Amino acid sequence: MTTAHITVDPAYRIGEVDRRLFGSFVEHMGRCVYTGIYEPDHPTADQHGFRRDVLELVRELGPTIVRYPGGNFVSGYRWEDGVGPPQQRPRRLDLAWRTLESNEVGVDEFMTWCRSSGVEPMMAVNLGTRGAQEATDLLEYCNHSEGTALSDLRRSNGAKEPHDILVWCLGNELDGPWQVGHKTADEYGRLAAETARAMRMVDPRIELVACGSSHSAMPTFASWEATVLEHCYDLVDYVSLHSYYEPHAGDVGSFLASGVDLDRAIDAIVATADHVGARLGSSKRLRLSVDEWNVWYQQNFDGQDELEYVERRALIEDNYDVTDAVVVGSLLITLLRHADRVGIACQAQLVNVIAPILTRAGGASWRQTAFHPFAQAARFARGEVLRVEPRVTTYDTARYGDVPLVDATATFDPDSGDVAILAVNRSTSESVLLDADVRAFEAHRVAATTLGGAELDRTNTAAEPEAVTPRALTAVDTTDGRLRATLPPVSWNVIRLVPLTKEHSR
Ligand code: AHR
Repeated sequence: MTTAHITVDPAYRIGEVDRRLFGSFVEHMGRCVYTGIYEPDHPTADQHGFRRDVLELVRELGPTIVRYPGGNFVSGYRWEDGVGPPQQRPRRLDLAWRTLESNEVGVDEFMTWCRSSGVEPMMAVNLGTRGAQEATDLLEYCNHSEGTALSDLRRSNGAKEPHDILVWCLGNELDGPWQVGHKTADEYGRLAAETARAMRMVDPRIELVACGSSHSAMPTFASWEATVLEHCYDLVDYVSLHSYYEPHAGDVGSFLASGVDLDRAIDAIVATADHVGARLGSSKRLRLSVDEWNVWYQQNFDGQDELEYVERRALIEDNYDVTDAVVVGSLLITLLRHADRVGIACQAQLVNVIAPILTRAGGASWRQTAFHPFAQAARFARGEVLRVEPRVTTYDTARYGDVPLVDATATFDPDSGDVAILAVNRSTSESVLLDADVRAFEAHRVAATTLGGAELDRTNTAAEPEAVTPRALTAVDTTDGRLRATLPPVSWNVIRLVPLTKEHSR
């Protein structure tokens, strides 16, 4: 059996796990909001119209921050349409997804939902069709305490306390020709700078995210960031990166190695941002906000251009199988490995739209296969990320060249003493022995799970919602400071070391 060697030692520290790495995304798209998180007629609806069954699953999934309201949707959105008495709110054309937007849910409702689900909001402003004025208006409406027209409007709409939204995205994917209000890097960079400056005058506490590339294959990848950041380097805290993956022409080997592409894209954008920082003589280091990432079968979506405008339609409700879940796990490993420079990451999206949670309108909700890697990472990857450097044979991929058979990362929480090793086996044919040097840790018990290994095209459905869940990984032993675990082919594995000195109910 092939062996993958790693060393897990608290001395080899990459950086702290920012809890915002476990973010998610709610867009007014398809059934993410309407019949996803919000469905007033649903039997489980709370007094605000939010589905309690979905809220429970969201709490179990454990996202820490949720980006809203788009996505492409935000680039034509008027936030004012979504506040005030619901029956007086206008219906509008949503140009991005060719939908009739009822505006039943707006920023105040979203904030109510955030409080119920225990997540931090991350708000995007429209820099497609709008500018600094509307962005500062929204910020004043949300964060100014009282005594101005906009803050008093919020109060009269029922939100007496400010929403105190701290993280703001300066638009969405404005490098993309599909974006309403698509701009050149210079046009966007200037607009981002002037909007950032004005927004900071309203509330200096905020953290700002400049739009980076929509994906690493964009013709302007990295040059977009270089130009944009020349305009706004000192005014923003993060630059965004979006990355979606799918198998091309049945090439599972490359698909399983998607994390390699994300790794390289992060390295490229960090280098680009640091280059601009160096040119400007700045000691500040920007962080990345990977605020849209996931598996997305774009090949199954014909696009929206030919669609009729309708009130509601399902869009990109991908059904994830076991392989997809393993790829999601490997993308989480990549994000954690870059904890020194990636400060925010949002899996896109949360419910129904390429999501870990699926719902039936009026009916059930359930966990997709890909729910589990996210939930486990959000729950167990705490404290500090450790550099583990897997040493293992590689395999050849059509898209990314030679790629290690196993990818892994580990976290160590100095407060609890808990260690979590997260590992994927990318081999489609063989188990791999993970041999971990764990001598640095005191006596511990091991708790390990695996997802994968067989029935790779199995999905969870309303009828069989538990078809794919993590199961105990029993092929693990620890002796003399070495941990050995057999990782099944195409699998996502979580191996925890819990100090014996601690009584854990977890
Ligand atoms: O998440 C779906 C869409 O993907 C978002 O609206 C957009 O930002 C991205 O292209």
